[in-house]
Amino acid sequence: MSYKTLFGERKVALRDVSLEIEEGEIFGILGPNAAGKTTLISILSTLLIPDSGSVSIFGMDAFKETKKIRERINMSSGLNLPWSLSVYECLKFFGMAYGVKDNRIEELIESFELSEFRDVEFEELSTGNKQKLSLAKAFVNDPELVFLDEPTTGLDPDVARKVRKKILKIHEEEGITIVLTTHYMAEAELLCDRITFLNHGRIIAEGTQDDLKKIIGAKDRVIVELSYIDTISFDKLPPEGIYSVEFRDEKLIFFVDSGEKRIKEIVKLIEPYWNNVKGITVEEANLEDVFLELAKRA
Ligand SMILES: Nc1ncnc2c1ncn2[C@@H]1O[C@H](COP(=O)(O)OP(=O)(O)O)[C@@H](O)[C@H]1O
Ligand SMILES: [Mg+2]
Repeated sequence: MSYKTLFGERKVALRDVSLEIEEGEIFGILGPNAAGKTTLISILSTLLIPDSGSVSIFGMDAFKETKKIRERINMSSGLNLPWSLSVYECLKFFGMAYGVKDNRIEELIESFELSEFRDVEFEELSTGNKQKLSLAKAFVNDPELVFLDEPTTGLDPDVARKVRKKILKIHEEEGITIVLTTHYMAEAELLCDRITFLNHGRIIAEGTQDDLKKIIGAKDRVIVELSYIDTISFDKLPPEGIYSVEFRDEKLIFFVDSGEKRIKEIVKLIEPYWNNVKGITVEEANLEDVFLELAKRA
């Protein structure tokens, strides 16, 4: 998929992307800014037609049977709703296309905690409430499949947490298939059954969280916090079971098969720096580690 720039060149935003989303799952498209997430989710949700390639939804060709598909899907993409409509009017407006009844609209207003703002115009809402309204809009037609483009970007941590909880709750209660994009690793980790990592328009890894963590081989990481140290070097190679060591932000991070098993060896290894050790913790490896590793290889 490419875009024409203002200079008349073509800029490729997506290349060789192929993926399958299973019914009932929460599928995450994860990647940094400009990775191509919005382009991809726009193509998947029938809003954008790619230069080449195909999309099949519910067994139908997304670019031929678009109307039929659109009745059964919906999307939320940022805070670009009509600025002069109130919460109620906005949902009514988007519901009209599907013949949605008033009680469904009231139900959504309540469910997304917008009752207090029912008659407030979109432009007067806080960012958090704008986002909630944008999400409520995505569920107006009782869709079987919903696309959410960065549902928590720009929100206070508190509101972001609430929105994530809400997404999980809707998914749990109504079994809707959800495809979302995010650049927050922790968000993908919390919400997604399967994840595809996008970078520079390409898929660089894909799978369940466990699959992805296997890329770095390690199950745990042992973090040794140090004080007043610029560089560190070891005079012998790490023993088996310690896959790699990194030094960042005054922390030594050991990626290991099992934190419990390797802690003794690690303590021995860092003995020369013992006076600088402020603390040692063991954590499970996370998606951030996977991403850093993938970025290194790219
Ligand atoms: N309408 C457009 N015209 C030109 N270039 C675009 C357009 N939309 C996106 N791009 C470019 O395509 C790339 C992918 O963008 P996007 O899909 O928005 O990424 P993301 O959502 O991951 O931040 C970026 O380099 C972006 O600048
Ligand atoms: Mg985007």
